[in-house]
Amino acid sequence: MFDKESALNSVPSLYLYDHSNAQQDVREEIIQGLSAQQKYISPKFFYDETGSRLFTDITRQPEYYLTRTETRLLKRHAAEIGTLVGKDSLLIEYGSGNSEKIRILLDSLKPGIYAPLDISRDYLAEAALALAQEYPWLEVRATCVDFTTEFDLPFVSRRRHISFFPGSGVGNFNRPEAGEFLARTRRLVGTQGCLLIGVDLKKDDATLNAAYNDARGVTAQFNLNVLAHLNRAYDANFDLSLFAHRAAYNAVKGRVEMHLVSLRPQTVTVCGETYRFRKDESIHTENSYKYDLEEFMSMAVAAGFNRAEYWVDDRSWFSVFLFYSEGEGD
Ligand SMILES: C[S@@+](CC[C@H](N)C(=O)[O-])C[C@H]1O[C@@H](n2cnc3c(N)ncnc32)[C@H](O)[C@@H]1O
Repeated sequence: MFDKESALNSVPSLYLYDHSNAQQDVREEIIQGLSAQQKYISPKFFYDETGSRLFTDITRQPEYYLTRTETRLLKRHAAEIGTLVGKDSLLIEYGSGNSEKIRILLDSLKPGIYAPLDISRDYLAEAALALAQEYPWLEVRATCVDFTTEFDLPFVSRRRHISFFPGSGVGNFNRPEAGEFLARTRRLVGTQGCLLIGVDLKKDDATLNAAYNDARGVTAQFNLNVLAHLNRAYDANFDLSLFAHRAAYNAVKGRVEMHLVSLRPQTVTVCGETYRFRKDESIHTENSYKYDLEEFMSMAVAAGFNRAEYWVDDRSWFSVFLFYSEGEGD
């Protein structure tokens, strides 16, 4: 159950749902990744409470232009987005984290219900509680769920469904997975709904490499925390001092790749299984795909969205799209 239960129960406009996966499925997923030829751990394992806090710290680093640029775009266009989307909707946020960005939109969107979705349960509960206290007129229905899976919302609402997916979280999917995610979102919002989504754009290697290798080493700590998370929650015994953070833009694949590199030959136990690492062998922990406007637009159209507005910053570094899903009979 969630921590701080009595505080949570004291706010009548706040509802919390736990749809997290069975522990056994999660273990199998970890074992599958570490048994692959190129070892990998899904980026969703970054996000225990420590990982969520470290990510918030990353967003404040000077090199991490993504959050600042997207925030400026949302502030600049909040009123217009509010007019386009309309009031009294069900506003669903994917990977809501600290729910900071939604605060920019709440006054102009005036949704009836805000439904944050996140895998990091305690952090989600804390953020939802803070938001519900700050906005007493808003009904907050927070769900702990893995949004990479097919899921239904744990409640029903007849309001217009608006999905919000900021932070270029869609970049963590490979391109086919991103297409599938867009199609799932299209189904979730239905024929009257829309999707407001932040997408990071292709740019020079130096800017991208700096963004994922901040001078204070916060991204390195965030990356290494995935091993600490596995140690804490999945019976692992990684020695964090024997792995190093590596992140670099792969221009051919159009993605920043993040790895943890083994500094010497070693053996690690995770979920009761033993894994050997050669010196310099890596665990691939994250991809962050970067897009062209046209490419992303085509993916959304292929997923069933049929009308779009979009906004970009002055340097064309980041984009925010509003996709509509207007079905027959609209
Ligand atoms: C990169 S952070 C973005 C946070 C915030 N939305 C922003 O734009 O700054 C990704 C967020 O998505 C959540 N997340 C990552 N993978 C997830 C998954 N598979 N299912 C649900 N939430 C996930 C993380 O816990 C985290 O809060």
